Amino acid sequence: MSNHLVAPSILAADFANLEREVKMINDSEADWIHVDVMDGVFVPNFSLGIPVVQAIKRHARKPLDVHLMIINPEQHVEAFRKAGADHLIVHVEVCNHLQRNIQQIKSLNCKAGVALNPHTPVVSLENIIGEVDLVCVMAVNPGFGGQKFLEHTFQKVDQIKNLIIQKGSQAKIEIDGGVNMQNSKKLLEVGADVLIAGNFVFGDRNPRGIIQQLKNV
Ligand code: DX5
Ligand code: ZN
Repeated sequence: MSNHLVAPSILAADFANLEREVKMINDSEADWIHVDVMDGVFVPNFSLGIPVVQAIKRHARKPLDVHLMIINPEQHVEAFRKAGADHLIVHVEVCNHLQRNIQQIKSLNCKAGVALNPHTPVVSLENIIGEVDLVCVMAVNPGFGGQKFLEHTFQKVDQIKNLIIQKGSQAKIEIDGGVNMQNSKKLLEVGADVLIAGNFVFGDRNPRGIIQQLKNV
């Protein structure tokens, strides 16, 4: 058993019963709550915004891992921090000034992360890996929950882990999209630190039991 973390993705929860869902996570072995923010521009879907992050925060007793799938994130990170984000993750594909964006998040006294779309190469992390707390590796094209895990993710995680070691970075690797019992063990073996799971957790009648299973891989 490894000492990895588990972060249920609230996108797959019952939004009409968010308080109940957040309390279920509080009572589970989950470490963080993953919160997906979509703008309908960077990704072809909308999800939730600042008032919902505030509502989740009111009940959450675990850190909010906020994944910004939005363009111009620098215009919004402060508001998401105020709403209760403990980690803010921006996509490398939308940041022309990524290093500045990461420092902006850190100046808000918040953990800073970068997310990589499935097609985005690992080399794009080379000059930022020393400054980030988190690397969110997308194992599906972002925008929707419940998609099929892309198999090239294993190799990519392995490459990112090597880069982290080579550069002496403290970054944790989180895997986002299609995570389940079929791929978790191998993901941890190649270097993942955090398993994010939406449909696999909330699609089950016993989500706490699934979180426990993911924690005990
Ligand atoms: C996808 C989101 C994911 C999603 C994961 O755009 O970033 O966090 O909620 O959901 P599953 O685990 O169902 O693929
Ligand atoms: Zn996400």
